[in-house]
Amino acid sequence: MASGFYYQGGILRGDEIALPELAALYPTPFYCYSRQKIIANYQRFDKALAAAGIEQRQICYSIKANGALAIINTLAQAGAGADIVSGGELVRALRGGISADKIVFSGVGKTAEEIRAGFAATIARFNVESLDEIDMIAALARDRGKVAKLAVRINPDIEAGGHTKISTGKAEDKFGIAYENAVAAYAHIAALDGVEAQGIDIHIGSQILDLTPFRHAFARVRDLLTTLRSAGHNITHLDLGGGLGVPDETDSPPLDITAYANLIAETFKDCAPQGQCHITLEPGRALVADAGVLITRVIRTKKSAPNQKSTKNFMIVDASMAELIRPTLYDAYHHIAPLTEPEKETPIYQWDIVGAICESGDILGLGRTLPAMPADTPLAIFHCGAYASVLASHYNARPHIAEVMIDKDTHQIIRPRQTYDELLAGETIPDWNQ
Ligand code: LLP
Repeated sequence: MASGFYYQGGILRGDEIALPELAALYPTPFYCYSRQKIIANYQRFDKALAAAGIEQRQICYSIKANGALAIINTLAQAGAGADIVSGGELVRALRGGISADKIVFSGVGKTAEEIRAGFAATIARFNVESLDEIDMIAALARDRGKVAKLAVRINPDIEAGGHTKISTGKAEDKFGIAYENAVAAYAHIAALDGVEAQGIDIHIGSQILDLTPFRHAFARVRDLLTTLRSAGHNITHLDLGGGLGVPDETDSPPLDITAYANLIAETFKDCAPQGQCHITLEPGRALVADAGVLITRVIRTKKSAPNQKSTKNFMIVDASMAELIRPTLYDAYHHIAPLTEPEKETPIYQWDIVGAICESGDILGLGRTLPAMPADTPLAIFHCGAYASVLASHYNARPHIAEVMIDKDTHQIIRPRQTYDELLAGETIPDWNQ
């Protein structure tokens, strides 16, 4: 049986479940995730690394892509560790069943409280991004009589990623320590008690669909590794970040995971004098994006004002930028299609598919060719497994929508839709207003 989301006999299925049936059961909008697809994505990734001969490895799922406990736990059971960037993500990772010794703590602004939480949990490593952070971790470690393991995140000054807002490896980005200052940073660590430099870390951007930026970045890591080892630093771990893109329908072919794994193996195969390093990878999107859809329904359609040069057709649906902000924020394309494929001869029109939020930017898809669809027709917005629910907001007082996980022929709510009482929970009107 196929896993994930695919049409069979004109009906969209998630694993073995016909999604029109699910849409009749759960009120829309809701996110729907395929457990089998997540596992398949993880295994494909891990097998590619194994086949390339990378024996010492750990895939640390980047929790920021989708922090649902059910997803984290599915990946934990498959063998994943976690890449976290906040105290909240640490709690999610641990409650999701990731063992602490497989957790790496990334992020440019870790607070003392978050660092202490990392110590308390005995995580594997901190990926550090500034000398100030190194000093803070060292001081906090000394207070506890510990030695914290570090990898220094290097900013290799490389252009990568689908959009300027998700590029992280350019010199002007806030991330990492400049490549030119890397050697000094390792010397700084070596002179401090309470910290030990175990690795080199990079993450150059997200939604990368071509190997070239990885090739350049890995070469820089390799050079730095050689330099550091000859300067006497015992570097044993390389964290090569995430960033592997998942193409939409308009994009180039997917990034070849085998070629990616082979590139890593080739670049780091014999790193004298200490030999091969342990490799950590931090994929987010590549593990979960295509394992999720957002199910929505047509509320109504309307045309723009008739006196404009071009009249537009709007399809207003019950999902919005509050549940999927990527088209608004990054001009991202997400394929949108009805759960039941229309008959071949049905006339088609151009539609702007929009939500009900009071912003012109509340766009889910522009200029989509689809038939006219009556109110209540259910639609799927594809590739909503990553960076959809995690970026959700309550704008226009919209409660967080339900999340459903399917597994072969079963389904279960993994997070119910918030009630209005839950949405308002904890808010008070100050005494002086009473
Ligand atoms: N590691 C670090 C340190 C990161 O900052 C990120 C993503 C990842 C790993 C995972 O990257 P991935 O494999 O998912 O590309 N909200 C944007 C994406 C922002 C990514 C931020 N960092 C979007 O919706 O496209």
